[in-house]
Amino acid sequence: MKLMVIGGGGREHAIIRKLKENPAVEVIYALPGNAGMREAVPVPEIGAKDIPAQVAFALSHGVDYAVVAPDDPLALGAVDALTAAGIPCFGPDARAAVIESSKAFAKDLMQKYGIPTARYETFSTPESACAYLETCSLPIVVKADGLALGKGVVIAETREAARAAVHSLMEDKVFGASGDRVVIEEFLTGPEVSVLCFTDGVTVKPMVSSMDHKRAGDGDTGPNTGGMGTVAPNPYYTPAIAETCRETIFLPTVRAMAAEGRPFRGCLYFGLMLTPDGPKVIEYNCRFGDPETQVVLPLMESDLLTVMQACTAGTLAETEVKFSRRSACCVVLASQGYPGKYETGFPLTMTPEAAAHTYIAGAREKDGVLVTAGGRVAGVTAAAVTLPEAVREAYRLAEGVRFANRYCRKDIGAKALKAWED
Ligand code: AMP
Ligand code: GLY
Repeated sequence: MKLMVIGGGGREHAIIRKLKENPAVEVIYALPGNAGMREAVPVPEIGAKDIPAQVAFALSHGVDYAVVAPDDPLALGAVDALTAAGIPCFGPDARAAVIESSKAFAKDLMQKYGIPTARYETFSTPESACAYLETCSLPIVVKADGLALGKGVVIAETREAARAAVHSLMEDKVFGASGDRVVIEEFLTGPEVSVLCFTDGVTVKPMVSSMDHKRAGDGDTGPNTGGMGTVAPNPYYTPAIAETCRETIFLPTVRAMAAEGRPFRGCLYFGLMLTPDGPKVIEYNCRFGDPETQVVLPLMESDLLTVMQACTAGTLAETEVKFSRRSACCVVLASQGYPGKYETGFPLTMTPEAAAHTYIAGAREKDGVLVTAGGRVAGVTAAAVTLPEAVREAYRLAEGVRFANRYCRKDIGAKALKAWED
């Protein structure tokens, strides 16, 4: 079989390596991919958002199945276009991808169907948003309605900071049209858990839970990033909590989307907060998380392609989705300065042992060698029987991946280890 994966980061590398385990897979084209994806054929001239070129490529190269990984092409209708061209695809169509691309849609869905989430109001003018802020207790959370690279959320400790967030989103348009509307919501507390679920629009099969580390600095300090590391499973997510989430969040969400005429097929990502009042939804993503995928897929024992095809075909109920009981840890290696300004173009070297455990997020080829090409450069994943071993092993392997301005958090897994010991 010939496969095509849209996207170019560490998440896509993890998906590709897992798909490649199926012996029926002859080739995987990555659009655009990156030069570090040794299991794939990168196609750098076709970007993740260039949907007409993706369709043309799939048709001219006899692609049998496509996986659309990032949020942008999903929201723009890549799955709709590929499906219309006769290429079966993994991922939601544009009507279902709105669950991520509009926070107002997601919040209204949860309210309508009684899915637990933070209390909220939606506003389309800065005046009405600011008037509402006067009545709120602090801290308060201000979110851009649309996609904002995970950076459209401000947790304001003061009314002044909340007003400033409204102005920068709605008037200065720091995230463009994503700030046409804002959602203002109640501040929740508790451990955060990511749960990725396979769904065919009816059946839901959750993957192993995970924990992201979003801040750039140790001890959860510094600016928010795309994610600096992950562990799986998340020790806060007990079997009892998993059962509650299944009954009160996962199934109701999939049923709600179907009832709205937007059946969701693909990977539905639940960002949850385990509050004193029970688990609540912080956000939905219409795709695999990055870098959650880099710890979740290495623990998957079932064949990824088979499960993805079952999501597309609507046969997930009859398809086994099995995960190992082991633990995994992924340490992201970034360019110094990320998520702000950083330099790239430094030679990237890996020992063979480290390379086998590394997912490349940002690299290109220059004069025949691999050089860095992004803020997040690589993620190094280790799996082991216990979480402490997985964390230790991930950091040991990370020593084998080198580039000049490399930095990583030193405490990936520390919070989980504390919970794990209790
Ligand atoms: P989001 O982009 O919606 O995932 O938000 C980014 C981060 O902001 C989340 O991972 C949480 O840590 C935090 N956050 C979002 N909404 C809330 C909330 N209502 N209460 C507390 N923290 C929140
Ligand atoms: N790691 C969070 C995300 O993929 O949105």
